[in-house]
Amino acid sequence: MDFILFTGRYNSLTTQELASRLPEAKSLYPHVYSFSAPNEKKAISMVSFLGTSIKLAIKLETTDLSVESLASLIDTKIFSITNLKGSIDNNLYFEIKRSLTGHIRFVKSRQYFGLSPVILQKKKVTELFLDTPNSNVYRTVWSHSYHDWIDKDRKLPFVDPKSGMMPPKIARSLINLTPYQGKPQDLTFLDPFCGSGRLVVEACQLGFTVMASDIVQEKIDHTQGNLKALGFQADIFLADATHLSGKLDKKIDLIVTEPHMGKVDLRPDRIKYVVPGLKKLYLGVLKDWLKILKPGGLITMIFPVLSDDSRTYTTSKIIDDDHLSGYNIKTRGLIYSRPQAKLKREIVILEKK
Ligand SMILES: C[S@@+](CC[C@H](N)C(=O)[O-])C[C@H]1O[C@@H](n2cnc3c(N)ncnc32)[C@H](O)[C@@H]1O
Repeated sequence: MDFILFTGRYNSLTTQELASRLPEAKSLYPHVYSFSAPNEKKAISMVSFLGTSIKLAIKLETTDLSVESLASLIDTKIFSITNLKGSIDNNLYFEIKRSLTGHIRFVKSRQYFGLSPVILQKKKVTELFLDTPNSNVYRTVWSHSYHDWIDKDRKLPFVDPKSGMMPPKIARSLINLTPYQGKPQDLTFLDPFCGSGRLVVEACQLGFTVMASDIVQEKIDHTQGNLKALGFQADIFLADATHLSGKLDKKIDLIVTEPHMGKVDLRPDRIKYVVPGLKKLYLGVLKDWLKILKPGGLITMIFPVLSDDSRTYTTSKIIDDDHLSGYNIKTRGLIYSRPQAKLKREIVILEKK
């Protein structure tokens, strides 16, 4: 069976997340990917854990895009049709409505992914997508749990704007793009700069055995409080990320982390003084983590790219240091930044040899 996945327009990690977790997905249109699965249930399980997923639609057997044929697909009192490429002629809606009996309503969509998941989860709607150039019709079978994502973003008891708060969907994608093998249930995850625990929450929800640490007790309390509010459990402890090896008695499969990156509102004239300290911290942690990772263990780490008036500082350069020759560099130079963000983030993926 064939499916299309609609991905988030503002999730800049879509390509990397799909490359790791759904490599068979092919780009069909912007933010729309096609893939095959043996059945609907399997297809939903393949996409519902991705941070980038918005909606899933199944390809129907018909290739007839006539009014009669489309009308025969509508089995609810409300329907909506979106064209994957271009817009829908208003007449099509009216003609379909006219050919159906009973009190049938249509709702026009204004977004590339059709109606909002909020509407779909409240009302019974037949939502169709037309791929006119290929004469295909798709029907929505799943949409992301909008309320859950919003609640994780806005309603966690402990938030910390001063340390920067990673949006939950980005945190989820960042974990997923880490090219780990096997099931999360069999792997140990660690975030050694856990802050208020945005990555930790997502790792718990994905089913990893989760460990997390931070150098500030208040952050530990915040992460614990946030996990408790969501009903998750993790091993959370106070530690300096440069000295973790003395504290752990088990080896780690993957580390995903957004480390300390300087003050959120760092003044440009301070950057040149802050960068050497950040580089020293990153070199220190990566040296130490060689001792706690399993062979083949992975690190996905964010490095700040800072610019003042005269130059740009790429803090990730430290991964070329001889002390870190125990790692294979799997990915570097993958830049992502939130809209309007002054600070650019570079994603680096390392594998312990
Ligand atoms: C950018 S924040 C992490 C934010 C986190 N990703 C989130 O979304 O909640 C960085 C964290 O690193 C912690 N930190 C700074 N230096 C550290 C060190 N040497 N060892 C461990 N944690 C450290 C800070 O207390 C802060 O909570």
